[in-house]
Amino acid sequence: MFEDACAALRDGKFVLLYDFDDREQETDLIIRADAVTPQDVLRMRRDGGGLICTAVHPLAAERLGLPFASDLMQNVAAAEQPGDIPYDRRNHSSFSIWVNHRSTFTGIPDRDRAVTINAIADQVKRSLNGGGHNFAAEFRTPGHVALLRAADGLLDVRRGQTELSIALAELAGTTPAVVVCEMLDDESGLALTKEDAVRYGAEHGIPFIGGSEVLEHWEHTKN
Ligand code: 5RP
Ligand code: CA
Ligand code: ZN
Repeated sequence: MFEDACAALRDGKFVLLYDFDDREQETDLIIRADAVTPQDVLRMRRDGGGLICTAVHPLAAERLGLPFASDLMQNVAAAEQPGDIPYDRRNHSSFSIWVNHRSTFTGIPDRDRAVTINAIADQVKRSLNGGGHNFAAEFRTPGHVALLRAADGLLDVRRGQTELSIALAELAGTTPAVVVCEMLDDESGLALTKEDAVRYGAEHGIPFIGGSEVLEHWEHTKN
């Protein structure tokens, strides 16, 4: 399934990415940010139902000046504290800032979010290629697309879908800017079970991949 997942990612198609049985136990619909269309945003909010976020590579995040929200909010009373995340006591959340492309009106329609997401991918690509980029000229915050900043060292340090999706993009050779959205169950309102996510993938021709498989390939490639 690993090769199918890489091929789908390269083709700009969806992949179902489960993390781990001892973590969130969630499956995210993921897709490369540079290929996202308004129809893809529609599918994520209808079939996924979770939060539509764009994960970016740590080097791009640094070059673009994208901080961790947890660092920014230290003076806010409700700020996340070390150890707050129940499924991952060692790390903080990967949330960065929330943005809208300056050309959008409210930022929430499918078309607006696709415009914002495509432009994020473009900035990530340009920053990693050492080209010119000016994040503030193109985006405003707050906005309707949540940015996720992958941890430095990726899966060596943190193993959320943020790092898994960026590691998968690296392995597939695509721009490391990936949209993720949790699959929720319409009846229970809880995270879709792994079994139901596998079934959804089979019904819609979307490859399903688990975190352990990504980790295995990533470690193999690194060594
Ligand atoms: C954003 C989230 C999701 O769980 C998403 O998968 C990214 O987070 P993580 O890297 O912690 O898994 O919280 O909606
Ligand atoms: Ca999460
Ligand atoms: Zn997750």
